[in-house]
Amino acid sequence: MCGIVGYAGARDSASIIMAGLARLEYRGYDSAGIATVGEHGLAMRKKSGKLAALHESLADAPLPAAPTGIGHTRWATHGAPTDENAHPHLADSGRLALIHNGIIENYGELRRELESDGVAFASETDSEVAAALIGREYERTGDLEQAFRAVLPRLEGAFTLLAVHANQPGIIVAARRNSPLVIGLGDGENYLGSDVAAFVEHTRRAVAIGQDNIVTVTPASVTITDFAGTAVAAEPFDVSWDAAAADKGGWPSFMAKEVAEEPEAVANTLRGRVRGEVGSGVGRGVGAVGGGAGGGGGVGGEVHIPELDGHDDLFVDAERIVIVACGTASYAALVGKYALENWARIPVDVELAHEFRYRDPIIGPRTLVVSISQSGETMDTLMAVRFAREKGARTLAICNTQGATIPRESDAVIYTHAGPEVAVASTKAFVAQITALMLVALHTGRLRGTLDPQTGRLETAALQDIPDHIATVLAQETDRITELAHWMADTRSVLFLGRHVGYPIALEGALKLKEISYIHAEGFAAGELKHGPIALIEPGQPVFVIVPSPRHSALLHAKVVSNIQEIRARGARVIAIAEEGDAAVLPHADEVIRIPLTTALLEPLLTVVPLQIFAMALATAKGLDVDQPRNLAKSVTVE
Ligand code: M6R
Repeated sequence: MCGIVGYAGARDSASIIMAGLARLEYRGYDSAGIATVGEHGLAMRKKSGKLAALHESLADAPLPAAPTGIGHTRWATHGAPTDENAHPHLADSGRLALIHNGIIENYGELRRELESDGVAFASETDSEVAAALIGREYERTGDLEQAFRAVLPRLEGAFTLLAVHANQPGIIVAARRNSPLVIGLGDGENYLGSDVAAFVEHTRRAVAIGQDNIVTVTPASVTITDFAGTAVAAEPFDVSWDAAAADKGGWPSFMAKEVAEEPEAVANTLRGRVRGEVGSGVGRGVGAVGGGAGGGGGVGGEVHIPELDGHDDLFVDAERIVIVACGTASYAALVGKYALENWARIPVDVELAHEFRYRDPIIGPRTLVVSISQSGETMDTLMAVRFAREKGARTLAICNTQGATIPRESDAVIYTHAGPEVAVASTKAFVAQITALMLVALHTGRLRGTLDPQTGRLETAALQDIPDHIATVLAQETDRITELAHWMADTRSVLFLGRHVGYPIALEGALKLKEISYIHAEGFAAGELKHGPIALIEPGQPVFVIVPSPRHSALLHAKVVSNIQEIRARGARVIAIAEEGDAAVLPHADEVIRIPLTTALLEPLLTVVPLQIFAMALATAKGLDVDQPRNLAKSVTVE
């Protein structure tokens, strides 16, 4: 939440900062602002609304050229999205400008103290309190870094702070606690950003900043210390993607681009993690739900995850796995639970990260806590991981963002290689998360000796076929789903049903629709219908039903078909998502969307795709901004 950019170099900072903010706008888009420092002193401009409003204002009246600057794009926490509440906030009689991401929890008390000293505030934000405190210290010390060091111990909560001062041109001082901050290392210039997207078009050499660190950046130097002033060593890393990966590249939206990239996201997440034969598992699949072996022998390689070398104990010693995540990532976790329990025969609980630590869960050294997070910065998930570590649990992160806080604070990490995900609605990261979980489940099953090697090879081969299968769904079904969405543009409510691994996909289908099309949507376990939700069905009610493959379980298939009959008898309009060749579903559905054959546990990687396309097409049909839905931000870095 909130995007932050800083630049210290020789070029004009305003254009560099505005370009960085454009790449970070997905983090918050209710207002934006910029402050620069040059020969003229400090200049600042901020505007409510999307970044375009600030752009327009700067085009009408540019800031004087200046080689140092900071910029911010906001997701409001304290105070409405007005010009006054936008960042930067000024202090020291307008000579100091500060931007903030996070929440300063004790701001009320600090504000009262400052007000009783005669400080007048221009905004309702918690952030301005930090600006005022640092400004007051600057007046005393004449040095921004010293002012930071004096004030930071007084701030509680989460913050990334960046500040510039008119009297110290060429210097940006920054600090972080619980909110993200990355440095970009250039040649005669350096950058700061909430994530590497802020500067990746200029440099791919980056340094992630640790907890409770202060950074002083000039064009020629980067100094990192802890709050007490002790030097901190930091390892630079190379960003694995380039600026083009974070561009729309001719697509109508980032979401459309990211859905189209799903085959690649899965393939990249598998790359280098399967050794031995690369076989085709198409439709080889395998007998009962949960994957008893069937089909031919000799296909498929063996999962080997190099990042987990030396970490066998995490999986072998664990008595239990708890997966913590939020939103879409938590639905990926639910899919992972089925695979882990099936192949590794280990109990798995999935916990919403924000509920986890507040109910005193029973965890200890023999619990493996797996976190899933695209951003690696979600505050709820980060706090759950920290809590787990305090209780002695071992931790594994599944994350899409290099150098993010959650992987840095975990015992081991598996990166999903989905590439940058910009649209607020998570799509390609979701399929990459499920892919990573499948790899972990196959790995754990092998290590614990619970997975029959033949099944392991078949499932691995089937996993390797998923990119092609997703491409098939995209090629064959996009137009029809788009047409369907156009018919349904006035629909007020859509329901989603699934059983077994179809259940988390029903939840995800509903979340996608809610968040980008603002239509009421709910996902249910199909078996739960008769326990209440069936009362919602009235004539014409659209219901998406994820139909499990009859080849894997005739029983499950029959149960879902019978659920379809129950809702159809009450007037529901049924859109079934069923595998190719499932003829039994045809008489019971108004529409059937087809997915290629795969194994039972891998079906979610295919069944989710039509639901993502549907949500996107419906939102587009309603004329909504699919990339930046109202009230949301991509990375939820406050609790
Ligand atoms: O970055 P994370 O994966 O930790 O984010 C978790 C959720 O905030 C995220 O999946 C959210 O639900 C998406 N907007 C869903 O599309």
